[in-house]
Amino acid sequence: MVRPARNVRGSVRLPGDKSISHRYAMLAGIAEGPSRLENYSTGADCASTLACMRLLGVAWEQKDGTIEVQGRGPSLTAPADALDCGNSGSTMRMVSGIVAGQKFSSEMIGDESLSRRPMERVITPLSAMGAQIASQAGKPPLQITGAALKAIDYTMPVASAQVKSCLLFAGLFADGETRIVESMRTRDHGEVALRAFGATLESKGGGQGNEIRIRGGQRLRGIEARIPGDLSSAAFFLCAAALFRGSQLTLPSLLMNPTRARLLDILMQIGLRITVTQLDEIHGELVGTLQVEGAGLKGITIAGADSAALIDEIPVLAAIAPYTEQGIEVRDARELRVKESDRIAAVAANLRLMGAQVEEREDGLKIPGGQILHGAELDSFDDHRIAMAFAVAALRAEGETLIRGADSAAISYPAFFRTLEEVTEP
Ligand code: S3P
Repeated sequence: MVRPARNVRGSVRLPGDKSISHRYAMLAGIAEGPSRLENYSTGADCASTLACMRLLGVAWEQKDGTIEVQGRGPSLTAPADALDCGNSGSTMRMVSGIVAGQKFSSEMIGDESLSRRPMERVITPLSAMGAQIASQAGKPPLQITGAALKAIDYTMPVASAQVKSCLLFAGLFADGETRIVESMRTRDHGEVALRAFGATLESKGGGQGNEIRIRGGQRLRGIEARIPGDLSSAAFFLCAAALFRGSQLTLPSLLMNPTRARLLDILMQIGLRITVTQLDEIHGELVGTLQVEGAGLKGITIAGADSAALIDEIPVLAAIAPYTEQGIEVRDARELRVKESDRIAAVAANLRLMGAQVEEREDGLKIPGGQILHGAELDSFDDHRIAMAFAVAALRAEGETLIRGADSAAISYPAFFRTLEEVTEP
């Protein structure tokens, strides 16, 4: 149950970034020597990755927020059971790149939501590299028979950082040099993490036509790292702060990777004041402390490369759109329909229940500004980002909002509701 708030104030220290946590856990497992991962994501998704790595023979221990991993080197052991990826598309898509290069077969399964999500985007290129993969018409469960992989030259038809990382990880096990081209730049945590663990990668292009090359047979070595705060989780607090003139929030040690930080530009354009201090770089990832202050809320259009760069943050931006002056239009975001839920339909349904006018389109949404919303009974659609996005929208609604299935927030951020309560003034 979320009640309207008058303001947002305080300091929020975010658990480690989910994208980085997944990749570090996987690479630590196939590296040589121990790794120490501080501030590992507290979300259930990253626990799914760790559970899969344990089934593949990687020993690890959790001490407070730190994971200590005993790297096994590139050869893992055949899992005694199916690799359960839970709700996590990242786990299934990226671990598949690692097991494709092993000398055994693995079965990868997931929950109901994950079992509906498209996997042909990894099946096609991994098969081209020599792995044998059976699926349910391109969906999980996947049966992956590993092989001595051969390098490929692959242009990705979908903008997906999960697919890019999957293929770079598979490329480590392949004979020759794998070349991956993405027409739309996606988050580069896979590249940055591989370098942190000692691999050499060539990349060029940057914007459109970004190209990455990796030679097979490189050995990785363990690292000691502190994982920066999750920027996509911070998005909910940043949007909450944007709703109130004079709000003040501090977010220490937050991930500032330029391929993830487009949200900050967008929020500044719509009226949030943001100051960044204590910029630092840890294992190639940029970190900083953010000070934000709410000051008006203008509208914006999100399209093209921005839609890919903001893919996880669009639900919460759309959820605050009715409160902006000119509204928010989202285009070129068809991928949102195949996330943990159909996020375009979920956002439209919940906004309408709150009394908002919304135009739902195949590839996005058009939400007029200047609207007054009322509290309502909403559904999370068992999607963590929908649950959290509407908790934020509820802060400015008239009356109380009940979010069914709100515990799905634990997929990426178990402490979300407690922390939201701490920084909102009733
Ligand atoms: C992620 C990439 C994105 C994003 C997901 C995490 C990653 O998915 O939505 O939450 O860590 O690489 P896609 O690669 O499917 O776009």
